[in-house]
Amino acid sequence: MWEKGGSLSRGFLRLRHHRHGYSGGFYLHDQRFAGGLAGPLGLRRPLEGSSALAGGLRGPIFPLGCRSLSSGGKYATARKESDEEGPPAPSGGDMVSESGKEERVSSYWGVMRPRVTKKDGTAWPWNCFMPWDTYSADLSIDLSKHHVPKTFTDKFAYRTVKILRIPTDIFFQRRYGCRAMMLETVAAVPGMVGGMLLHLKSLRRFQHSGGWIKALLEEAENERMHLMTMVEIVQPKWYERALVLTVQGVFFNLYFLLYLLSPKLAHRIVGYLEEEAIHSYTEFLKEIDRGTIKNIPAPAIARDYWRLPENATLRDVVVVVRADEAHHRDVNHFAADVHFQGKELRDAPAPLGYH
Ligand SMILES: [Fe+2]
Ligand SMILES: [Fe+2]
Repeated sequence: MWEKGGSLSRGFLRLRHHRHGYSGGFYLHDQRFAGGLAGPLGLRRPLEGSSALAGGLRGPIFPLGCRSLSSGGKYATARKESDEEGPPAPSGGDMVSESGKEERVSSYWGVMRPRVTKKDGTAWPWNCFMPWDTYSADLSIDLSKHHVPKTFTDKFAYRTVKILRIPTDIFFQRRYGCRAMMLETVAAVPGMVGGMLLHLKSLRRFQHSGGWIKALLEEAENERMHLMTMVEIVQPKWYERALVLTVQGVFFNLYFLLYLLSPKLAHRIVGYLEEEAIHSYTEFLKEIDRGTIKNIPAPAIARDYWRLPENATLRDVVVVVRADEAHHRDVNHFAADVHFQGKELRDAPAPLGYH
C-alpha cells in the first residue's frame, strides 16, 4: 500500500506551495527565497542540486533533463500549470506537494519519491512525513509521573527548569496556544543535539550507539511535528519570531556544551522540561474546556500524523501532544538514570518508536 523511497526533493516542494494556514508561518521566508532568487536565472532554488533547477535552466543547459521531462513527466519542475486542485495520485516520480497539488519536478539525477497513497488510495498529501511515520498516541501513559530530585544534579536540574518557567509564565500568561508554539521551537533542540553528539561519538569510538542516536533524533522530529501543528493554529508575530531566533541561538549552544560536559544533567533537565510541558498542555486543555480557547477543528497535518478522525478537534490534538511529552519525559529521565548508574546510553536499549 505504501511505498517508501527517496525524498530528496521534498524540501524543494515545500518551497513552491504551502498549505492554507502556513502563509504567515515558516514558509513565508521560503517562498520569498524561491521567488526572489529565482528571478534572473529562472531558478526555483539555485543553491540546491539540479533537482531544484526549474524551467529556466532545464532546456538549454540540461538537455537530458529536458528529454526526461518530455518522456513521461517523471521529473520536474514546479510548474505553474500544475496548480489544478485535487489531482489524482501521480505515478512514478511525480510528486504531490503538501498543498495537495501535483508537482512535477524535473531532475537531471532521477531522484524522486515513489508514489505514496493513503489507505483509501488518494495521494499522500505530505512530504514532511510519510504514512509509516504516523501513529496513534498512547494515551494510557501516566501523566502524573515525577522524578523526585534526590542528588545535587537532580536538584540543580529541577531548580533550573523551575526558574526558567518564571519568565515563560510572565511572557505568555494564559496564551497557551502561543506558549506551546514557542516552546516547541525549543523542545525540538535537545534531541537533535543529543543525537548529533552521540552520532559523532559513535564515529570517534568505532562503536554502536545502542539505538540512542535514532531515538533522540526521533524525539526531535516528533517535537518538530508538534511545532508544525501548532503553527497551523497560532501564527507567530514578528517579535515572537525574533525571540525564537535569539532563544535558539542561546539554547542550542548552551545545551550543546551541557551535553558535552554532563549528558546526565542534560537529560535530567529535559526530563523536567517535559514535566512542565505536560503541565502546560493540561492547562491548555482546561482553557479549551472552559471555552476561553475555541475548540477549532484539528489541522489536517495533525489528523494525518496522529491518525485522528476527520472530526477531531484542537482538544484531541492537545491530548495526543501531551501524551508525546509524557513519553519524552520518560525517555529523558530514563537516559539520565542510565548515566546516574555509571553506564553509557548504549548499555541500555533505546526506546525506538516510543512517542
Ligand atoms: Fe512537544
Ligand atoms: Fe517534549
